[in-house]
Amino acid sequence: MKFLVITYGCQMNVRDSEAVSALLARQGYTTAEGEADADIILINTCSVRGKAEAKALGKLGLLVADSRRHHPKRIIGVMGCMVQRLGTELFKKVPGLGFAIGTHAMSRLPRVLQDVFEGKAPVLDTDEGDDCEALTGHVEGKLSAYVNVLLGCDRRCTYCIVPTVRGQEWSRPAESVVAEVRELVAQGVCEVTLLGQSVMNYGRRNAVWPDGSVSPGGYETPFPRLLEAVDAVEGIQRVRFTSGHPSGCTAELVRAMVELPAVCEHLHIPCQSGSDLILERMRRGYTADQFKAAAGALQAALPGVALSTDIIVGFPGETEEDFDRTRAFMEEIGFDNAFIFKYSPRSGTPAAEWPDDVPDEEKKRRNQLLLGDQARRVEAINDALIGAQLEVLVEGPSLRNAARWSGRTRTNKVAVFDPVAGVARGECVTVVVERVTATTLYGKVS
Ligand code: 5AD
Ligand code: SF4
Repeated sequence: MKFLVITYGCQMNVRDSEAVSALLARQGYTTAEGEADADIILINTCSVRGKAEAKALGKLGLLVADSRRHHPKRIIGVMGCMVQRLGTELFKKVPGLGFAIGTHAMSRLPRVLQDVFEGKAPVLDTDEGDDCEALTGHVEGKLSAYVNVLLGCDRRCTYCIVPTVRGQEWSRPAESVVAEVRELVAQGVCEVTLLGQSVMNYGRRNAVWPDGSVSPGGYETPFPRLLEAVDAVEGIQRVRFTSGHPSGCTAELVRAMVELPAVCEHLHIPCQSGSDLILERMRRGYTADQFKAAAGALQAALPGVALSTDIIVGFPGETEEDFDRTRAFMEEIGFDNAFIFKYSPRSGTPAAEWPDDVPDEEKKRRNQLLLGDQARRVEAINDALIGAQLEVLVEGPSLRNAARWSGRTRTNKVAVFDPVAGVARGECVTVVVERVTATTLYGKVS
């Protein structure tokens, strides 16, 4: 039987889709080439904004209709955050679905499918108690892999549905994380990204080390210790982690980023707004100055560090003045990349009770302004890299022009260069940057 997984949402969803694909492959299912030859199509969904849900619901409706007409035996299933949020309501919204599994039910997918084969559709599983260790593994042949380290979220940002759909924070035991990274390296992976909603909170809720001893590098707090343990895995070339929060940017974390050779000079650290008033109403747990201090500590210790961020425009009560503060704040920090979102009320969150008083047109305008600022900023940042010698992890022929090769810098920028003899995929080379665009660095291997 052939399956296809279609993913919406964040890196956590990408990882979950890969884990579920690996699980099905171990069960003897094979990967379909596209929708046409798939016997099972599984959509992994996101609930973070209304638009993300609308997109997934639209796609599901189309798939169900197409299956009825052309593939009556095909099973359409849903997984992820939207399932956890909507439960059985989903079957009313999209009649004809075969099954829906929540964010804690992925390891039970084979059993759910069995129920569907036995004619029990639609089958819903939104129970707790996933077997995380059955959910490792990734797509073969990739150089880079995501590894879950912290599940759920304990922050209660007033706009955010994630704690509702992903549950309380829970840290995987450090041994399991390290064992998974070893396994990935044995399969040819060179780079891992450790995932958690507030990843630096790793180990705060549940113990993750068998004893309380200090690590060989002298790290005392759980997340820097974990970075050290992952960095020490033989053969791992690069370690990244996401998402950050200013409260996690401690002196020890900064020291780990400076000292550990595989840990890259790159961090995604959502700020959401540059206005203290809005930050307080969002319940982010920091002021603009505190965020600046955290970013400044990273920038001072790690020259050339690339910081990326998320911003929400049009949060309830966001005035022109608040917005101007955000603009100035982003400029001051000099973010390398920014994902800008229009505020979307999520029912059940505190902010959804407040008037959504910034009109959509205005949200759009603010969104466009920030995108324009960011494009100019990244051009200037990239311009300054002309002449620089950067370490690039070679990925192979470039997608646009197979005669050239591409890879990524430690700061996660795409670099394109002429292939050189004796250099293989998965090796690091030094590239001298000759020309840049907003998205790509072009150069020569030195
Ligand atoms: N509306 C708009 N954007 C949101 N995000 C989270 N919740 C909402 C919401 N209700 C954004 C935040 C977060 C990113 C993953 O999505 O910026 O960092
Ligand atoms: Fe990821 Fe949050 Fe969307 Fe879930 S709701 S897929 S955790 S961004």
